[in-house]
Amino acid sequence: MSAESLESIAAAMIAPGKGILAADESSGTIKKRFDKINLESTAESRRGYRDLLFSTPDMAKSISGVILYDETLRQKTAAGVPFPTYLASMGVVPGIKVDAGAKALAGFPNETITEGLDGLRERLIEYYGLGARFAKWRGVIDIGAGFPTAYAIHANAHALARYAALCQEQKIVPIVEPEVLMDGAHTIERCEQVTNDVLAEVFAQLHAAGVRLEGIILKPNMVISGKQCTQRATPAQVAAATLRCLKRHVPGAVPGIAFLSGGQSPAEAALHLSLMNASKNLPWQLTFSYGRALQDAALTAWGGKSGNEAAGQREFARWARMNSLARTGGYQAGMEQQAA
Ligand code: 13P
Repeated sequence: MSAESLESIAAAMIAPGKGILAADESSGTIKKRFDKINLESTAESRRGYRDLLFSTPDMAKSISGVILYDETLRQKTAAGVPFPTYLASMGVVPGIKVDAGAKALAGFPNETITEGLDGLRERLIEYYGLGARFAKWRGVIDIGAGFPTAYAIHANAHALARYAALCQEQKIVPIVEPEVLMDGAHTIERCEQVTNDVLAEVFAQLHAAGVRLEGIILKPNMVISGKQCTQRATPAQVAAATLRCLKRHVPGAVPGIAFLSGGQSPAEAALHLSLMNASKNLPWQLTFSYGRALQDAALTAWGGKSGNEAAGQREFARWARMNSLARTGGYQAGMEQQAA
């Protein structure tokens, strides 16, 4: 089989009407999700939950790709088919989270640097052999009094660019994810200012590292009020500020932008995406790469109980469909209630 080009993999990831499911929760994060439904996190409960999601009827109509975690990439469906093989057989591109998490940045209290570059080339070679065609690396930028610092932004952008160059060398499309967190009481204006600084530095570093922009997907935060901010920006303001910020920093050579949901409710995340996609003449595809906004309702409906699998799948399918509508500006608030 000839290797697909980076451009053709990226095109499949941002196919019309579709977006990406982030199901790459690390063992620590999935345990937190399972704790909420009183389910013990074991290799088998994690496998069973991912199997439930991936075997949702018609998933491939609205999901173009799935980001997996190392353990999940090596696990199998109930019928014994490796997950990457199963997903690819449905036309869903398998991807892999390759960063090793955000760790304390020495000398910069409150800030983190994402680790995982050592040995990354060898891991990418193995992941490609296991079927992964794209990867994800998340740099985390927190907003608070006196931070982010320019140094933390630079260090995270530099790591993202080194990761992206390694991925492209191995014919894997890098999802470049610089996430400005929603945590805190900051205003949307402050989020916009920080997101501007972060994206400017990320694209400077990608350029310096020789990364081919046609073969990446950007996964940014939306420009949004902090969770504890009392002056909430309206959905129209979020859409306008996010587009303004992206237009200033993301070259048209980038084929697609796939947002993270970052703690927004499923309805907010779908509405914001829909409002942005109602704008005409955008240079890139705007889609979703949601974790919580696609999975939260499914996890609650399933509750970890056998017999509830179909209920969980219905919720996942519902939010996947709503976001599929948002790809063309067709989602409106409350629509999910009619769509059983
Ligand atoms: P959320 O949509 O839950 O933010 O997760 C997306 C993701 O992949 C974060 O790295």
